[in-house]
Amino acid sequence: MLLLSGPNMGGNELKYVSECITTGWVSSVGAFVDKFEKVTAEFTGAAHAVATSSGTTALHTSLVMLGTGSNDLVIAPNITFIATINSIKYTGASPVLIDVDKDSWQMDLDLLEEFLEKETEIRDGNCYHIASGKRIPVIMPVHVLGNMCDMDRLMALTSKYHLTILEDSTEALGSFYNGKHAGTFGLMGTFSYNGNKIITTGGGGMIVTNDDALAKHAKHLTTQAKADPFEYFHDEIGYNYRLVNVAAAMGVAQMEQLPDFLKRKKEIIEYYKSQLEGVGDITFQKVIQSVNPNWWMPTIRTGKQKEILEKLNSNKMQSRPLWIPMNKLPMFERDIFYQHQDNSDFLYQRCLSIPCSTNITISELKAVSDKIKECF
Ligand SMILES: Cc1ncc(COP(=O)(O)O)c(C=O)c1O
Repeated sequence: MLLLSGPNMGGNELKYVSECITTGWVSSVGAFVDKFEKVTAEFTGAAHAVATSSGTTALHTSLVMLGTGSNDLVIAPNITFIATINSIKYTGASPVLIDVDKDSWQMDLDLLEEFLEKETEIRDGNCYHIASGKRIPVIMPVHVLGNMCDMDRLMALTSKYHLTILEDSTEALGSFYNGKHAGTFGLMGTFSYNGNKIITTGGGGMIVTNDDALAKHAKHLTTQAKADPFEYFHDEIGYNYRLVNVAAAMGVAQMEQLPDFLKRKKEIIEYYKSQLEGVGDITFQKVIQSVNPNWWMPTIRTGKQKEILEKLNSNKMQSRPLWIPMNKLPMFERDIFYQHQDNSDFLYQRCLSIPCSTNITISELKAVSDKIKECF
């Protein structure tokens, strides 16, 4: 099977993991955790990076630190991986799901603005949802598939409506907006190192922030909130959300190769575009000029989605539709979904991601493109 986006472990992974095993530093502390955090902070330009056990736990920890709770609503796009919305629910809060833009597939900022204008009010420096009386402290933009929305406009809106930004940049390691890295626009940003991401640690995540106190708190909360170096004194309810040293060792080796992986992802999307753009009704994600995306997961939009999915998967070329829109899942169907034309459903019916592992060969890319062309 040609994997959709599989790991590429061609660097120092084995060497660094062996080092953990031979020295015995395999578990929750170790030099690779510190190093992985340091290189991530350097690469993204964030002042701090705190490693976590997954992207999901990075999001949950961040929301806990922002004090999100059961009287709150958190704004997020309706097209995302479930972990974004689950992390909101873990805190007792509920999502306000905003429909996405048909072309960029990111949260639709016109709709967001309309929602904030018509449905919220500012009281005592906080944004409140008028109908439910709930506070809206946080917005979670998701950089869907490594693309980004107009961040200048988003920042202006969030500052007008007193919303704190927590970026779900789990898919956007290596994506930049006017030279600034994804995840560094909000008070906090998060990354995921799940097996299909642009770099992987098997499983893992990261919180980045420029705020010294939040970084310290994130480390504390993700390591059981132990407040005494000797005694088991814990000063708040913490979590075992730490990344183990053996995973961080892989992360350090993967970060060394990230520039090459990014180059490769660009070559892959350029190849697919050269082969498929203009074939039938195929289009790709629209990227605005300020954005330099990581092209983590090349995905096409076409009315022939089902036919192509069937053709590729039956030819052992792994291909997947976009996520089912969040408002269609049973746990979230009673939450607010703000939309005009349900672009989420439009995209769900049409988009499919195609094989794009960084070690895919040109002949494999050609074979995938040819199979897709056969459907037209
Ligand atoms: C948009 C989005 N949010 C959150 C996550 C959760 O990350 P993880 O799988 O590392 O928990 C992922 C990836 O899996 C994701 O794609």
